[in-house]
Amino acid sequence: MVVRVPQLCLKLFLLKKMTDKSKFFRDTLALSQKLHFSMNPKKVDQEKRAKVMSKGLPKQIPIKGVHNIILVASGKGGVGKSTTAVNLATSLKLNYPAKNIGLLDADVFGPTVPLMMNLNDTPLLTKENLMIPLTNYGVQCMSMGFLIEKGSPVIWRGLMVMQALERLIRQVHWDEIDYLIVDTPPGTGDTMLSIIQNLPIAGLVENMSNVKCTNCASNLRIFGDGTSKLSEELGCKILSSLPLEGDISMCADEGTPIAVSGRNKDIEECFKKIGESVVAFCHK
Ligand SMILES: Nc1ncnc2c1ncn2[C@@H]1O[C@H](COP(=O)(O)OP(=O)(O)OP(=O)(O)O)[C@@H](O)[C@H]1O
Ligand SMILES: [Mg+2]
Repeated sequence: MVVRVPQLCLKLFLLKKMTDKSKFFRDTLALSQKLHFSMNPKKVDQEKRAKVMSKGLPKQIPIKGVHNIILVASGKGGVGKSTTAVNLATSLKLNYPAKNIGLLDADVFGPTVPLMMNLNDTPLLTKENLMIPLTNYGVQCMSMGFLIEKGSPVIWRGLMVMQALERLIRQVHWDEIDYLIVDTPPGTGDTMLSIIQNLPIAGLVENMSNVKCTNCASNLRIFGDGTSKLSEELGCKILSSLPLEGDISMCADEGTPIAVSGRNKDIEECFKKIGESVVAFCHK
């Protein structure tokens, strides 16, 4: 179970395509109440919180070899969490080459990191039986996709998911990772709840914020314009706004993250900026 580590600080990194804001708030509030933390502490029912707290929280244990953990999360699926996580991780490595960067695919139901990072091997084991992460673009990666047969259906049940996550997180030889980027599963189910707890928000990424019309080149905000309001309500910054751009998904499908592909300087710059904000946030 991922956890908040006293000497380290888990960072929550929110990402949201602004289509259903009320649902996002409902989900976020439900999530925060279940986890006994609040993005807006005023909204948490103190009594309920004390009652649940008395039942005991998951134990918080540091991840050996990991110094900072950054989650990429959202209130819904398909908004670009994995794309952002992969590009953030590779961009960090490109811009901070001396730092060790890790990428953990915590989506055991639909792991996409192997495809996006162009990694297919099975991890080797150390003599202590720890899995050695697979590396591409200088980023140490771990994903359930490395451990199951490609294309084979896996029926996960609650406990299995927890065990799988535990294995992905703890039975890995993380090699002094300065920043571990965690790609979270969609939504706010139990898997998600088990890995998010008491987290400060580094900021918002507004993905698919606009699309350029191919006829008149004007920018269309097809998913609406509510991100500034959300950032005010959550009291956190918008770190970057990324366009809906074919190159981003094409690069992801090819296993060449756009942030390091040399194909689009503007988007590279967006991820560089997000990385800088995240690094600053980790050290403030
Ligand atoms: N800015 C973007 N422009 C164009 N396509 C994008 C962009 N961001 C993500 N995509 C594409 O949208 C799809 C969903 O992205 P992604 O898999 O990263 O979302 P997700 O939030 O991780 O989804 P899930 O919740 O299922 O894990 C992918 O095909 C991806 O290539
Ligand atoms: Mg995903």
